[in-house]
Amino acid sequence: FNKDSFQADLISWFNKEQRQLPWREDKDPYKIWVSEIMLQQTKVDTVIPYFARFIERFPTLNDLAAAEEQDVLKAWEGLGYYSRARNLQTAVKEVAASYDSKVPEDPKALGSLKGVGPYTKGAILSIAYDQPEPAVDGNVMRVLSRVLMIDEDIAKQKTRRIFEECVQEIISPNNPSAFNQGLMELGALICTPSSPSCLLCPVRQHCKAYAEGVQQDLPIKSKS
Ligand code: ADE
Repeated sequence: FNKDSFQADLISWFNKEQRQLPWREDKDPYKIWVSEIMLQQTKVDTVIPYFARFIERFPTLNDLAAAEEQDVLKAWEGLGYYSRARNLQTAVKEVAASYDSKVPEDPKALGSLKGVGPYTKGAILSIAYDQPEPAVDGNVMRVLSRVLMIDEDIAKQKTRRIFEECVQEIISPNNPSAFNQGLMELGALICTPSSPSCLLCPVRQHCKAYAEGVQQDLPIKSKS
């Protein structure tokens, strides 16, 4: 496995083929944060109009911090999992009060905010701040389980840590944002749960599962 070549192939594909999504228009850490929270239990196509409306209503972190909770929940209506919205507002109030309204770049500080788990933390740090931090969700575990032929059970809590260690080994230090988003985009567009489009895959020549013809058998998932 040649990681430099893998990074180059993944990133050039992402730069060419990525979907134009509203949260990819700039690197405002607040907007990246909102998008990643919305995307946690909701599909991209559903999130797009909600994200646009939410940012129109609360354009900056301070606007959200100062809002009435009922207005925030109103803007979230239809997305469900309302604790996501409540936690997000609690966390942005904390950022306004304790960090001069600037989303922390320090991983410990960021990860201590309400509702900011390892995935969200890594997504914000890599996408908004270009830090080489892993952002491992189900999509990323599926892609890497195939590329690197990792047969860990992705239903187990502690498995995410194993994939985070893999990402730390192979992430591009030059472009961690495109690297992490490239893995997400590959999982969404090419390396799908069933019938992955291997013939269109930009990293097929790096993929151990493809070489063995077992891409359909990965990832291992004990419970659904
Ligand atoms: N799923 C989770 N985060 C995403 C992102 N930034 N872009 C597209 N899909 C995602």
